Formats: sequence, C-alpha cells, structure tokens
Amino acid sequence: RVTVLADRFGRIATDLRVSLTDRCNLRCTYCMPAEGLAWMPQPQQLTDDEVKRLVRIAVEQLGVTEVRFTGGEPLIRRGLVDIVADAARLDPRPKLSVTTNGIGLDRIAVSLREAGLHRVNVSLDTLDPARFHKLTLRDRHSDVLAGLRAAAAAGLTPVKINTVLMRGVNDDEAPQLLQFALDHGYQLRFIEQMPLDAQHQWDRHEMVTAEEILAALEPFGLQPDDVSRGTAPAETWLVPGYVDAAGEPARVGVIASVTRPFCGDCDRTRLTADGQVRNCLFATEESDLRKLLRDGASDSAISEAWRAAMWGKRAGHGIDDPTFLQPARPMSAIGG
Ligand code: GTP
Ligand code: 5AD
Ligand code: SF4
Repeated sequence: RVTVLADRFGRIATDLRVSLTDRCNLRCTYCMPAEGLAWMPQPQQLTDDEVKRLVRIAVEQLGVTEVRFTGGEPLIRRGLVDIVADAARLDPRPKLSVTTNGIGLDRIAVSLREAGLHRVNVSLDTLDPARFHKLTLRDRHSDVLAGLRAAAAAGLTPVKINTVLMRGVNDDEAPQLLQFALDHGYQLRFIEQMPLDAQHQWDRHEMVTAEEILAALEPFGLQPDDVSRGTAPAETWLVPGYVDAAGEPARVGVIASVTRPFCGDCDRTRLTADGQVRNCLFATEESDLRKLLRDGASDSAISEAWRAAMWGKRAGHGIDDPTFLQPARPMSAIGG
C-alpha cells in the first residue's frame, strides 16, 4: 500500500536524495576546509543493507519514483554499485542517478550502467587544470574530464555538468564552460551558491546571480525552452545551433535557488549517510530513521516516521528572512 510523502502545503515528495558518505576526495574551497571535516564515525553510517531497506521502503510504500545517490563523494562508497543494483530491482523501478565530482567515474561508469543506473551529474567549475587545483586543492582535473567521457560512453546520459560560479574565481569562464559542454554534448547547469558551506563564509553580495550568468551567456542567443520545467531546480534555455548527444536541441540550465527560489514546487526528500530524514536542504531538524532501523522497527513504522518528517516541511528555505540560520549540517554531509 502506498501512502505518499505529503506536506501541509500540498507538495508531494517523489524524489529521494540519498547521501552515501560525508567524505570527499576534493576540498572545493567553497565547500570544506583544507583539512577536511570531522567525518562521520563508521558505526553511525548506515550499512549497505540499511540503505537498501530504506530505499525499498521509500519506493514500495511512500511513492518515491526517483532516487539520486550523493555524498560527500558517492563514488568513494564501496557498496555503491551493489546499492544501485538493488534499487534497480525494485518494483516499480525508480529512476536512478548519481551526483559526483567525477573522480573514478572512468573506472566505474560501465559497472554503474550495468547495475541499472540511468544517468550522472558531474561537478566541474573550471576548464583550467591549474585553477582546478587552486579551487579543489587536488590535482585531479584530468580525472574529472576522463570521468565525463566515460559516463557519456557508458550511456549514463544525458550527462549533466554542475558549475558553481564564484566572483573573481571562475565567473570569467561561463562562456568557455558552456562552449565545452556544447562541444561534447553535455548539459551544463550554472548554480547560484547557497549558504551551506562548512566555513559559513557565504556572502549574498558576493554571490554570482542568475541574472549575471545569463548576461554573460548573451553571445549564445539563448531562447526560452519549450518544455515545462516541472519540479526541477534548473530553469533551462535552448542554445540555438547545437544538439546534445541524443540529437535533441542543446540546453543550458541555471539553478537559481537564491534569487529565483523554486521551493513551492519542491518534490524532494533527503536521507543522510547516518540515516536522518531531512525534509529540506535547509531543514534545521532531522528525523532519526537509523534508530528505528536498529531498534527493529517494522517497515510500516519507518514509513510512518518518514511521512511525519515530511509533513513538517517548511514552505521555503528562508534565506532572505532576517532570522535565517544556516543548518548545522554542511552541504557535504547533506548531499546537495
Ligand atoms: P537533475 O534531475 O539531474 O536536474 O538533478 P538536480 O539538479 O536536481 O541535482 P544535482 O544533484 O545535480 O544538484 C544540482 C544543484 O541543485 C546542487 O547545487 C544542489 O544542491 C541543488 N539542489 C538539488 N535539489 C535542491 C533542492 O531541493 N533545493 C535547492 N535549493 N537546491 C537543490
Ligand atoms: N551552493 C550550491 N551548490 C553547491 N555545491 C556545493 N556546495 C554548494 C553550495 N554552497 C554543488 C557542487 C555539486 C552539487 C551537488 O552541489 O558543486 O555540483
Ligand atoms: Fe567534495 Fe562536492 Fe564538497 Fe567539492 S563540493 S569538496 S566535490 S563534496
């Protein structure tokens, strides 16, 4: 019996984002400090079997139709392929995707595809290897490019690229990044930076806005998209003269969480690597499903707790409220 994850504003969560680890092999300066963070102790992390059970409950009992695995960096989770394969066997079969920094994707893309993964989103903030090193504190630019190629070759398509633009850091690269994506058949999305960094250094006035991004892309003559955006965070535009890898008209996206919030259409529910439900990226409260799991709760008791967690979802992220408080858990431990 399916009883959906509804909230008091009439939204229904059908898109589950599962963080598989809070660890990462990069140190993007806008995300975490050079020394890393206090990683989650192993015993607190859900086991592969616990993750599989919660995903099954979400799909079979709560009406979830899409599952995205995130991190930290999800490819460093050993059980990833097995977890994906298990999710792909569920009935009804959910759409399955991964959001990754791309490191190691060249080696695992085919296995992921064979396990039943549909597509990947890869983060890439610069085309310049030296700048990449400065931005991520690791010299892995070529690994990311290899990961992108492998994903496309394995059919994990459409391959989407996520770019966070930062003033004075990489905001001069928007047109080149788009040209790169167009030339390779990837779909690029520019993301407005959100106040979710571990260092709490986000500054609204420093943020590169959707408006500025679109102005920088003027030479491409972007056209309004003809397909409805639905519940997707990205607003998309058509790029005349280009097609994507599938021969469809090429698109570019902007995820303007701050200046053009889309909370009213949100269809997301989130699970952290330690088994906490977050009803919003910006939630300040979480619901502990791990405790229920480990206390021997039934599937229906877990479903009930998950539904209760979603019912309490706030109308919006509230970034503009004077009382806004950044959640205690940073982006890398929520999963974006
Ligand atoms: P697609 O279905 O492939 O379009 O995925 P997506 O864009 O929803 O997911 P992805 O993991 O690639 O995330 C891209 C950016 O969107 C990241 O910066 C996420 O933090 C952000 N994002 C994803 N979901 C939400 C959301 O519910 N609210 C907000 N504000 N941002 C989100
Ligand atoms: N705001 C917006 N996007 C962010 N990401 C990481 N930190 C932030 C932030 N503070 C992006 C990553 C990755 C995606 C999951 O989220 O670059 O592409
Ligand atoms: Fe790792 Fe993603 Fe954070 Fe970069 S933004 S350090 S890739 S978790």
